[in-house]
Amino acid sequence: MRVVYFSADQDAAAWIPGLQAALPNADVSLWEPGAPAADYAVVWKPPQQLLDEQTQLKALFNTGAGVDALLKLKLPVSVPVIRLDDAGMSVQMAEYVCHAVIRHFREFDAYEADTRGGKWSFRKPRSRIDFPVGVLGLGVLGERVARAVAQFDFPVNGWSQSAKTIAGVRCFHGADKLDTFLAATRIVVCLLPLTPDTENLLNAQRLARLRPGGYVINVARGAHVVDADLLAALDSGQLAGATLDVFRVEPLPKGHPYWTHPKVIVTPHTSARTLRSESIAQIARKIAALECGEPIAGVVDVARGY
Ligand code: NAP
Ligand code: GLV
Repeated sequence: MRVVYFSADQDAAAWIPGLQAALPNADVSLWEPGAPAADYAVVWKPPQQLLDEQTQLKALFNTGAGVDALLKLKLPVSVPVIRLDDAGMSVQMAEYVCHAVIRHFREFDAYEADTRGGKWSFRKPRSRIDFPVGVLGLGVLGERVARAVAQFDFPVNGWSQSAKTIAGVRCFHGADKLDTFLAATRIVVCLLPLTPDTENLLNAQRLARLRPGGYVINVARGAHVVDADLLAALDSGQLAGATLDVFRVEPLPKGHPYWTHPKVIVTPHTSARTLRSESIAQIARKIAALECGEPIAGVVDVARGY
């Protein structure tokens, strides 16, 4: 069996020994133009040339949860695309979002500014009932995040395509329930896949539906948010702030208003990293299952876009 690996921005060479150890009967190599035909490709943001040349693939593994970059390419028909299915990401995402929610709710930025200035003072405790959190997307990551936030007794809403039942989460589904979900939410967390239906979802009209003093946490993709609308809502005082991990252009360009906006916290697309050893173990398990004709989780519905 032959396996090729390509990554546009992960430390490519570092994956080869781990993949080789997990797949001892395979010949594992970095993909390069003209590489011999492989059975499996393990990729992150590959060039079209890889897909055009690798015509014998039995499956294409994406070393991330989001497949938006991959689905922009012309994919071989009938080759399954397989996403990372958690592989250590959901706990990271839960940590990140809980941290952002609590940091905002408990006003830790303001306390830090005070104490750095040698000021010992108290703010009026806020009631978490007034800070309902709404999670857009209740998939592998969104469900874990919604459950984690609910552990802190915040009211939690969730929105997905299909109906869900999650203990401690008020679940909404479908486009016609989005406005109701937003009106019941003050801190909105975006964990949707980027598809034509979800691009620019957080625009001026939708942001205006959040409860007064709304807060945006975007950990999915930059293109879910209309940046000019978010900045206008922050500047007008309609929104209290935003924690943004993802951007339309990454790295976030120098001089972008988000870098210095006093109400915006920027992190460099780090909320849930691909963990190499967990990912390799998962991919190797799935290759073994596929070789035995067994079903696997994480097969992407290409027509649906996630
Ligand atoms: P997932 O398992 O595919 O879940 C997607 C969720 O979104 C599902 O609940 C789905 O509803 C819902 N959804 C999709 N389209 C919708 C629509 N039009 N209307 C309503 N709901 C819709 O994805 P995931 O693993 O949780 O990951 C979500 C995204 O996070 C990824 O696609 C990726 O872009 C991003 N991500 C970011 C980082 C980072 O470090 N910042 C790391 C990993 C992933 P159904 O359940 O009904 O299908
Ligand atoms: C990271 O953004 C991923 O989609 O895994």
